Amino acid sequence: MKVLITEKIPSSAKTILEGQGVEVIEFTEDRPMTREELLTMAKDCQGIISMLSNKIDKELMEACPQLKVVANYAVGFDNIDLAAARERGIKVGNTPNTLAETTAELALSLMMSVARRLPEAFANVKNGEWKRWLASGFLGRDLKGKTLGIFGMGEIGEAMAYKCARGFDMKVLYCARSPKKNAEEKLGAQKVDFDTLLQEADYISVHCPLTPETLEIFNKDAFNKMKKAPIFINTARGKVVNQVDLDEALKSGKIAGAGLDVTEPEPLSPESPLLKHANVLITPHIGSATHETRTNMAALAAQNIMAGLLGEKLPAEVK
Ligand code: DGY
Repeated sequence: MKVLITEKIPSSAKTILEGQGVEVIEFTEDRPMTREELLTMAKDCQGIISMLSNKIDKELMEACPQLKVVANYAVGFDNIDLAAARERGIKVGNTPNTLAETTAELALSLMMSVARRLPEAFANVKNGEWKRWLASGFLGRDLKGKTLGIFGMGEIGEAMAYKCARGFDMKVLYCARSPKKNAEEKLGAQKVDFDTLLQEADYISVHCPLTPETLEIFNKDAFNKMKKAPIFINTARGKVVNQVDLDEALKSGKIAGAGLDVTEPEPLSPESPLLKHANVLITPHIGSATHETRTNMAALAAQNIMAGLLGEKLPAEVK
């Protein structure tokens, strides 16, 4: 059996697979695979460990007649055509229960950095502009006691809620399909409708999957409903935001700043108008990027592959 790993990931994956007698081929160059390379390398594989930058669609599945399982090296799976996989009996796995804390830590880092204007303050020091202590310079805003609106209360949203409620005494409002009893009982979190979240939050953190319902849900209408000029954080997917409208909202002061780990497209062009705002901090999709988490993700991806090859239920199967 042969498995393709489409980018360099921790060796835990390869160790697990080779330990079970699987032949592993890896794309190890320091650049994403081209589509042609993906189609060529995957064609006689039974399994693929894919990255969120790999489009796993009908064309690819047709080019890989022996494919049994795709293990996405991410919790999100909007790069995979699930219906096409289902039609062909190809199982799809992802990596939940590995990256929630790590991604929430990044969301919190962005939130704190934008709230305290760290990008501007660092640029000031770096550019030799720091001349004296300023009584009224770089005034930011506190987190303690403020209202956080969480859009998408899956495991990452809940981890964020916990950190903010426990660490900063923040009031947590959230939007989700179903109520989260644990967060409500333990943290006093309140489920609200989208408009209430927009109107009442001092900080908004996005943690939803990308679906037809969430596509560009943060658009002009949404930004216009924001009453408290919140700081806007997105560590989910770039496409949940209309970036032209986000740029406008920053210009008009509808929002006070933004911390984005995800953009559309990725990579974001250095010419993007978003980069011209002093109160915007953008990172290159590093939500799950810690040594510990990536090692755990690699192991889970390999376990998903093994189960798929053996015709068993995947430990983390996307249905
Ligand atoms: C995910 O897991 O979906 C993240 O975006 C990748 O780190």
